[in-house]
Amino acid sequence: MKKTAKAFANIAFIKYWGKTDPKTRVPRNNSISMNLSDTYTITTAEFDSKLKGDDIAFIGENVVREKERNRVVNALSKIRREMKTKLFAKVRTKNNFPKATGIASSASGFASLAVAAFGALDYQLKEKELSIFCRTLSGTACRSVPSGFVEWTKGDNADNSYAYTLFPANYWDICDVIAIVTTKMKKVSSTDGHALADTSPLYETRLQGMDEKIRKIKIAMKSKNFTLFGNILETEALNMHAICLTSTPPVLYWQPTTIEIMQKIIQWRENSEVESFFTIDAGPTVHVICQGKDARILKQRLSKIKGVEKVTINKPTIGAHLINNHLF
Ligand code: DP6
Repeated sequence: MKKTAKAFANIAFIKYWGKTDPKTRVPRNNSISMNLSDTYTITTAEFDSKLKGDDIAFIGENVVREKERNRVVNALSKIRREMKTKLFAKVRTKNNFPKATGIASSASGFASLAVAAFGALDYQLKEKELSIFCRTLSGTACRSVPSGFVEWTKGDNADNSYAYTLFPANYWDICDVIAIVTTKMKKVSSTDGHALADTSPLYETRLQGMDEKIRKIKIAMKSKNFTLFGNILETEALNMHAICLTSTPPVLYWQPTTIEIMQKIIQWRENSEVESFFTIDAGPTVHVICQGKDARILKQRLSKIKGVEKVTINKPTIGAHLINNHLF
């Protein structure tokens, strides 16, 4: 049986940076995110007794990186173990955005793979189980499973660290206007970045403040206080990057255009032209968080900045799900 799934990437307002256990990907702190309507992966999977190995292809990409392919094979092997089958799978997967530039491609990639592959084996997991499973493939993938605005709770062991919906997608009309500044893949993967977090002398201080930060941002979200919400998420992004910059070896994910955009966002806000806040994941891409009414004007302004390659507007959206349009 062939099944196809669509999963959206997500942007974290409070970041996942550092793991208690790199194998199971239990995080050091809770994180909060939103699924992104215009940034997604579609994956089709079919298990077939005629196959002698997994047949994997990334549509639209000329080079297949061995490391990435192995990660998909490992994910399929985990699914095989879970489902007690020895069958290999044909998998085709397609992103509508560039990989490894600071948009969580592993989140949408692995969430769509898991939904398609379990579906192809005619097995339906409950949302919580699916989120836990996806977490073991790539941490952020667990947040692409539930709908809308999501909290990933760190739990205290591998079986109770999962993501769930805080508010549905239609709860709040805010947008992530994504400004891609380079389509070249970053040099340090987020998996490698996580492993360095502990080497930063600032990391323990960051962790001590996380519960309070989560509490405050939830209050801002509950009262839809955009200014408070934006200030918390922007400071949080800088805090995560302060860890990267002070790790050994240090990791600098930004490009000159990244900084140019950050400065513009602050300037436009201070001049009362348009109120928005930036956040940045492990890459040079800038995610500009704004109210729905300001998304188009921000897209226009960001598109004019030299070095910006593409700008997309993303609304909050639903979680990973099966669709009918197969890729093969
Ligand atoms: C910087 O999920 O890519 O985007 O669990 O090793 O696959 P692995 O890491 P990944 O982490 C990326 C984290 C981040 C911040 C965030 O989205 O919370």
